[in-house]
Amino acid sequence: MPAKTKQKSEYVCSSCGHISIRWFGKCPGCGAWDTLVEEKVEPASKEKSHAMLSGSDAPVPLSRIDASDHEARIPIDVEELDRVLGGGLVAGGLVLLGGEPGIGKSTLLLQILMRLSRRGMKVFYVSGEESLTQIRMRAERLGKCPEGLWSMCECSLEKIQAAIKELEPQFLAIDSIQTMSAPGLSSAPGSVAQVRESTAHIMQMAKSMAIPTVIVGHVTKDGAIAGPRVLEHLVDTVLYFEGDRSHSFRLLRTVKNRYGPTFEIGVFEMTEGGLRQVTNPSKLFMGSHAGPVAGAVTVPCLEGTRPLMVEIQALVTPSHMAMPRRTTTGIDSNRLAMLVAVAQRQLGLPLHEQDIFVNVAGGLKITEPAADLGIIAAIVSSFMEKPIAPTAALFGETGLTGEVRPVGRTELRLKEAARLGFTSCTVPASGLSGISMPEGMEILPVRNLADAVETVGLTAG
Ligand SMILES: Nc1ncnc2c1ncn2[C@@H]1O[C@H](COP(=O)(O)OP(=O)(O)OP(=O)(O)O)[C@@H](O)[C@H]1O
Ligand SMILES: [Mg+2]
Repeated sequence: MPAKTKQKSEYVCSSCGHISIRWFGKCPGCGAWDTLVEEKVEPASKEKSHAMLSGSDAPVPLSRIDASDHEARIPIDVEELDRVLGGGLVAGGLVLLGGEPGIGKSTLLLQILMRLSRRGMKVFYVSGEESLTQIRMRAERLGKCPEGLWSMCECSLEKIQAAIKELEPQFLAIDSIQTMSAPGLSSAPGSVAQVRESTAHIMQMAKSMAIPTVIVGHVTKDGAIAGPRVLEHLVDTVLYFEGDRSHSFRLLRTVKNRYGPTFEIGVFEMTEGGLRQVTNPSKLFMGSHAGPVAGAVTVPCLEGTRPLMVEIQALVTPSHMAMPRRTTTGIDSNRLAMLVAVAQRQLGLPLHEQDIFVNVAGGLKITEPAADLGIIAAIVSSFMEKPIAPTAALFGETGLTGEVRPVGRTELRLKEAARLGFTSCTVPASGLSGISMPEGMEILPVRNLADAVETVGLTAG
């Protein structure tokens, strides 16, 4: 469409940030569909300067740079949080906290702020989304509001920067980056250009004043708002707060960390008084049956480096449909189709005549193949209407030929199973060398699927 005014437009991908001069249905950069949004091109002005990290003027030997005070971590003293951060906050470190709307990002942030300010730190919470009264009301719900917690409702980064310079806080939280507008940019808050520029400004501030900073970013599916994915390479640490809204547990996941390990998780529970850390998360995902039930098995799964005992449930019933149903919650349906085919072929079970439903208890999603053996055992147990002993656990990856393959961190899984009172565990035979076995745990090594179902007592007759 020809523009009447002289102002030009460009089209920016809200997923990857690719810029093109005309609109495409499919982004030429990342291949995503319908993600290009129109943005006005800012006329180049002398005052407008893109925020960049101000460095040294000339090259310097790195050995002469003093990093002793930057190394110090500021622990939040919440085990689940400190673990995902790699030990605590880092001075000048910029953390992006992403998550779906309403999952509890502001609650988590406010709880961190309140905790730090109770320890005597001067902390600053900038909200572009809620009024001071609303923030105060949330703080009341979470506990007594401490003195050292400063707050401001503002969207203009210029004013926020001035306030930070005056207040000199020891911790800064920006909720959310999509509401911020950077100086010198006229595009709407939430647009890719604004989000990127605002983050660059905040980063410059955080690094130059050595303030640990957390920014909140909304993740939307429709691509109308710039997703924080664009920002992931700008910030030091990316955390995702996720969970099933119909369940109270929430997972905080590290996706990127310049100062610590990735793929760690922290487990929290949303309660009336805010988020509570769950130090024994296995309890959340384990069944609480009065006795043995057919179709339920427990698998030691790994989330990051954390072992979790997770109950997998299957229901197998005769189907009256031409295409029997395969319904899953918490596992990939393609994986289920494969495992059913393997079980049918290797164990000779007529599963093609059955509707099969598989569910992971507690709303957890399992992606690791270590759960394969558990999924098949649950299906076979339900099909045969034969329960597996509640004190028996099993894990292992299953291949197309019915072989049971080793998975990582066998020792960790066995330890967690033993800790929670399991007395036997069926494991892949080839993953056992050099592993110390927990006391009181009977290890049943298996090489193929047929052996595995036999060891857990699922044989005909
Ligand atoms: N009184 C309460 N008891 C239990 N849970 C509550 C209570 N009040 C709020 N919540 C929980 O807090 C969630 C909202 O939290 P919060 O506002 O921190 O989320 P958010 O991720 O910041 O959302 P937004 O994207 O809207 O900013 C609600 O979905 C609800 O689960
Ligand atoms: Mg919020």
